[in-house]
Amino acid sequence: MAINKVGIIGSGIMGSGLVEVAARAGLSVVVRSRSQSTADAMVASVSKGLAKQVEKGRATEEEAKAIIGRISAVSDLSALADCDLVIESVVEDLETKKALFAELDGVVKEGAIIATNTSTLPVIELAMVTKRPELVCGIHFFNPATAMPLVEIVRPLSAADSTIEAATAFATACGKQPVQVKDRAGFIVNALLFPYLNNAIRMLEQGTANMADIDTAMKGGCNFPMGPFALLDLVGLDTSLAILDALYAEFRDPNYAAMPTLRRMVAAGKLGRKTKSGFYDY
Ligand SMILES: NC(=O)c1ccc[n+]([C@@H]2O[C@H](COP(=O)([O-])OP(=O)(O)OC[C@H]3O[C@@H](n4cnc5c(N)ncnc54)[C@H](O)[C@@H]3O)[C@@H](O)[C@H]2O)c1
Repeated sequence: MAINKVGIIGSGIMGSGLVEVAARAGLSVVVRSRSQSTADAMVASVSKGLAKQVEKGRATEEEAKAIIGRISAVSDLSALADCDLVIESVVEDLETKKALFAELDGVVKEGAIIATNTSTLPVIELAMVTKRPELVCGIHFFNPATAMPLVEIVRPLSAADSTIEAATAFATACGKQPVQVKDRAGFIVNALLFPYLNNAIRMLEQGTANMADIDTAMKGGCNFPMGPFALLDLVGLDTSLAILDALYAEFRDPNYAAMPTLRRMVAAGKLGRKTKSGFYDY
C-alpha cells in the first residue's frame, strides 16, 4: 500500500501539527476543515511557523516553500477522494467521529486507509460504521506533533495486517517512532499518564501543595520537562476530560474518574492554552 497523498481532517492543535509533519515527509497533504477560512488560516499559521524556522536557520527558504507547496486546504470532504490515507483529528467525541467515518467511507477511494488520531476512543466502533473495517486503524500522534517522536499504531480487531504495516511505514516515513498497541482505551501512553494527571488535581483539591509547587516538584524530582498542570493546559482540558471519561467508561478504575475541578473548569470554558486560560493564564 503506497501512501503518497494524505488527507487530514480537523484544524485544531493536532490537525495543524499533522499537516506539517506529513508535508515535511514529502507527501501531498489535503487539510479539510468545516469552513474554508479556517482551513486557509491553518495553512497560513503553518507557513508563519516555517518562516520563523527559516529566520532561525533551522530550514532553508526553499524547504519551507516546498513544504507549503505540498499542502492544499479544502472545506469539501469529497476533495479527499483520491487520498491514500485519511487521518481524522477532530474533537474527541465518539458520535462526531462515527458520523465523520461513515461519511468518509462513502467519499474516499476504495482501498484507502481511514485512520483516527483519537487519544482513547474505541477504534473498532469507528471501523464498524464503514464498509472497510479492515482498512481502519488508529494513528495516534503526540502533542506537539512536529516535535514528539512517538506514534501509537492502534490495531482494532477488524484491521488487516497490511493496514497496520502501511500505517507503521507511514509513521516511520514521517520520521517518528511507531509502536503497535491493541485497541484499548488510552492505548499505552494515556492509560499510564492520565491517572498521574488526575491525581495531581486530586492533590491540589486536597490542599497538599499549591499548583506551582506540584509542577516544580515533578520537574525537579522526576526530571519531567513540565509539571502536570502545565501538561494538562497543553493537552487541552476538554480533551483531557474526554480522555478520562473514556478511560473510566472502559475500566471503572477510580484513578480514571475525572476530578470535579477539571469538569467545572471545562464547563467554565477554561480549556488551557487554546483559550489562553486553564490552570495557568497565557
Ligand atoms: N491535544 C492533545 O494533546 C492530543 C494529543 C494526541 C491526540 N489528540 C486527539 O486529536 C483529536 C483532536 O484534538 P485537538 O487537541 O486537536 O483538539 P482541538 O480542540 O484543538 O481541535 C478540534 C478540532 O475539531 C473540530 N471540530 C469540533 N467539533 C466538530 C464537529 N462536530 N465536526 C467536525 N469537526 C469538529 C474543530 O473545529 C477543531 O478543528 C482528538 O481526537 C484528540 O483526542 C489530542
